[in-house]
Amino acid sequence: MVQRVLLIGSKGQLGSQLLEDLPGDVVGITREQLDLAGSRCVIEQVLGELLDRYQPDIVINTAAYTAVDRAESDEALALQVNAWFPGALGALAKEVPVIHFSSDYVFDGLAMRPYTEEDKPNPLSVYGASKWRGEVAVLEANAKATVLRCSWVVGSHGQNFAKTMLRLACEKEVLRVVNDQYGVPTPTPFVSAELNRCLANSIPAGLFHLVPSGETTWYRYALWIIDRASSHPNWQKQLRLGKDQLIGISGDEYPTIAKRPASSRLDTQKWRNQTGKPTLIDWQEAFEPVLKDLLDKKSHAG
Ligand SMILES: NC(=O)c1ccc[n+]([C@@H]2O[C@H](COP(=O)([O-])OP(=O)(O)OC[C@H]3O[C@@H](n4cnc5c(N)ncnc54)[C@H](OP(=O)(O)O)[C@@H]3O)[C@@H](O)[C@H]2O)c1
Repeated sequence: MVQRVLLIGSKGQLGSQLLEDLPGDVVGITREQLDLAGSRCVIEQVLGELLDRYQPDIVINTAAYTAVDRAESDEALALQVNAWFPGALGALAKEVPVIHFSSDYVFDGLAMRPYTEEDKPNPLSVYGASKWRGEVAVLEANAKATVLRCSWVVGSHGQNFAKTMLRLACEKEVLRVVNDQYGVPTPTPFVSAELNRCLANSIPAGLFHLVPSGETTWYRYALWIIDRASSHPNWQKQLRLGKDQLIGISGDEYPTIAKRPASSRLDTQKWRNQTGKPTLIDWQEAFEPVLKDLLDKKSHAG
């Protein structure tokens, strides 16, 4: 039974949610306490002190360099945070299990079916490459490590696609959104519910895909959010964008600095088998608590 959790990255989207939801004594560690952009010696020293002081039963790392486009010109820092640090953490934690998060961006997105954990990554971006190296590093350093690959993470805290779409729908009269990149949003309460379910017993070690059921495209995802906002009293009056003004485009029409995978679909069978859950909740249902939070929070609206 896990009693004390050391949670690194506790101010991020996922970290904030886990800090709220995980049971027991969860010690949140922020950038102010552990700056992963600093010197490696200092990071190891501070981390060692944190592990000694709190003696956690488990360490969860949600800290990451997540600015996908910026990483293309900031490779050294992306690699330090996403690749070197998970390995250092795994080694320093020694016998303590580490849960680390990774990304669908480790894949090139060319597969015609959902990716399994057996599929070899082939990242298209510096971010994706750094996340892949981090997975390998933590799994090699810590025999009890668990790596959970998620996609399109979305929560009530921090910045994400859903918040951007709501803002743009209030500002613009026409919006073009990519409709040929496939994946599934991973709401942060879904991740915390899955961790809660496992932490009560034991969490399997190794590499797993962890996303809800279903799939969508960025365009269909945006359409769903705007549709829900349009029937919410806080948003009805301030939305400028109607559903008909949301236009699906191809990824080629929306060039980005870092290339994104066309398919981010992740097969979760390994996780479901190992944790004894035949089916995972559908992404829209998993999204409900986040959507409610996002729509209710705009209560200052007319
Ligand atoms: N976002 C996605 O769509 C997505 C998709 C798939 C997988 N993932 C993975 O899921 C995990 C959680 O992602 P998220 O969306 O919760 O990320 P996030 O909201 O960007 O949070 C990342 C956290 O890392 C911290 N951090 C970044 N650089 C740091 C540094 N130099 N020193 C110390 N802390 C630093 C940030 O601190 P501050 O709060 O101080 O900035 C923040 O708390 C990550 O492993 C990410 O790669 C994310």
